Amino acid sequence: MRIIKAKDYNAMSRMAANIISAQIIMNSKCVLGLATGSTPLGIYQQLIEWYTKGDLDFSEVTTINLDEYRGLGPDNDQSYRYFMNTNLFDHVNIRKEYTYVPNGLEPDRDKACSSYNERIRACGGIDLQLLGLGNNGHIGFNEPEDAFEKETHCVKLSESTILANARFFDNQAEVPREAYTMGIKSIMQARKIVVVVSGEGKAEIVKKAFTGPVTPMVPASVLQLHNDVTLVGDEPALSLLEV
Ligand code: GLP
Repeated sequence: MRIIKAKDYNAMSRMAANIISAQIIMNSKCVLGLATGSTPLGIYQQLIEWYTKGDLDFSEVTTINLDEYRGLGPDNDQSYRYFMNTNLFDHVNIRKEYTYVPNGLEPDRDKACSSYNERIRACGGIDLQLLGLGNNGHIGFNEPEDAFEKETHCVKLSESTILANARFFDNQAEVPREAYTMGIKSIMQARKIVVVVSGEGKAEIVKKAFTGPVTPMVPASVLQLHNDVTLVGDEPALSLLEV
């Protein structure tokens, strides 16, 4: 695993955006696995800036997002589809029909998950997967469990995740209790993985995930077993790691 320590959030965002843009430049038809949450926002702003300057071209890029709240549609401003549209897709020349997010409005859990798995396979897998890190070590919405979940599945969100994500909603009661998420197997099959972390609040879980035992109780710990992971963090988030 490579660890890149950036001075602050902006430097971390630029560094991770550089890795993603190198991927797009090296393979204009690449498949990017994308993430939501507050951490990647600076990366998306940087990518939009480089696109606007004419340095990046998304016209042949395909994207596959990690997860979506079950029950929220594209028009709901808390859905991850809405997040991706407003924070990236609407501002670059990507073909919207080549941007995939699980269908939060599909009530049939099995159908929602199997069609997403087929979608990932039809794209030929993911070249570069961007990941944030939940406070309890979740990646996508793979919550701490007794076993690593495999492919796309429906999860019941943990209390700590509901609490952490409540800041984006009017109140905690509005946070959906379920989500569709790519599984650990799908994530681990990505050819490259870039994990981004920011802020002192992530320091403890970063240490646990990347230097502790590999266990489904800390889902991100499985990344220690992947052969091409880059962890990009700012100084506070990496403060408990000996880099
Ligand atoms: C959500 C998303 C994750 C994300 C996590 C951390 O739960 N499902 O993909 O990594 O939040 O978010 P943040 O970057 O805001 O800390």
